[in-house]
Amino acid sequence: MTAGTRQRCAGCGTEFPETAPHARCPNCQGLLEIQHAAPAVTGRELRGLFDGRPRGSGVWRFREIVLPTAQDIVSYPEGNTPLLTRPSVSHWADVPDLLLKHEGLNPTGSFKDRGMTVGVTQARRIGARAVACASTGNTGASLAAYAALAALPAFVVIPQGQVAVGKLAQAIAYGARTLVVRGNFDRCLELVDEASRELGVYLLNSVNPFRLEGQKTIVLEMLQQLDWEPPDWIVVPAGNLGNTAAFGKALGEAREWGLIGRLPRLAAVQAVGAAPFAASFRDGFTRRHRVEPHTVATAINIGNPASHDRAVQAIRETDGVVTAVSDDAILEAKAVVDAAGVGCEPASAAAVAGARQLAREGVIRATDRVVAVLTGHLLKDPAAVTRYHIETEPPPPRANRPVEIEARPSEIERALRASLTA
Ligand code: F0G
Repeated sequence: MTAGTRQRCAGCGTEFPETAPHARCPNCQGLLEIQHAAPAVTGRELRGLFDGRPRGSGVWRFREIVLPTAQDIVSYPEGNTPLLTRPSVSHWADVPDLLLKHEGLNPTGSFKDRGMTVGVTQARRIGARAVACASTGNTGASLAAYAALAALPAFVVIPQGQVAVGKLAQAIAYGARTLVVRGNFDRCLELVDEASRELGVYLLNSVNPFRLEGQKTIVLEMLQQLDWEPPDWIVVPAGNLGNTAAFGKALGEAREWGLIGRLPRLAAVQAVGAAPFAASFRDGFTRRHRVEPHTVATAINIGNPASHDRAVQAIRETDGVVTAVSDDAILEAKAVVDAAGVGCEPASAAAVAGARQLAREGVIRATDRVVAVLTGHLLKDPAAVTRYHIETEPPPPRANRPVEIEARPSEIERALRASLTA
């Protein structure tokens, strides 16, 4: 199965070898897709191969269906994230069988590392002289770290005032050249897409198909953790739609190659203020929407998702749904996930808020097994925490305000007594 991986343009159908150096089709600028030859072994044998491997990287353990010919791999390692059950979160969401796949526990604190290990490995393989991305923060943080591992210069282009401080700190600290644009994420992506083409810099946004091959392993690893017994639903926050697309591809291939016998349904969740994909879904995907985005979940503050077409295919093929949740619902879900000792950033909490909404609408049934993907770590966006718990007036329902006291034993005692009797 090592021979046979190709890149194919979804727009004009042109095929390219897997080492072709462009992130988009050079003829029509369409999105490229990786096509692997079917593995020469059965699904059972493939499962045995994956299950028998040592737990090094949670991406490269699946290399036969990620990038079979990869050598000289740039790995942290990444992946191997836990699948958690937390009764308080389940209870709040009204989903009795809810599992949380915590991608925030990747090395740079988000799922992006799974795509970046493949993208940067590929960048080195094609001899890229530099790598670049536009980002709402996490892609930039991950790119900066993996470029440092590979000793490649990195450019990270971010929207001014719309990136959480933990993510900005990472991009700078890991040594990427960071450009702050007076414009939103969608504009940043247009700019870096064009500049990378002109300058021969390798673009590592999720338009790049190798990123998606890595992100497929969120699903593969979750299936493996469930002994290859698929859940009924996978719920994922949706912004630029790279993950939605990658999940659809992973599930389609997993079924085709005999890893699983049936498909879970995908639920993509957007924030109401940045919900062009949910609007398209409501229209039966008859047209593509673009919006001026505005949500507290800065990671998914995106109005013109690049992987729209691929994501439509993923939702259609999995009999999936797309929904949108309010910022208030996102913040409440985050407070619940955080207080369970799990913690996540606001965009990730959209998955849990979305699961709750779909359960209340009866789309998700009480007996369904549901995996919600927590895409990023709590510490990515500490300002969201202090805003909710300390600064918002009146305090939101789950606010946990710190109490300021004088440095006296009596004050400590009074404060402790008050909390214990509360
Ligand atoms: N959750 C988090 C924490 C993210 O950082 C992102 C995307 C998403 C969800 C949405 O995933 O774009 O595949 O639909 N962040 C990108 C970035 C856009 O630049 O870090 P998607």
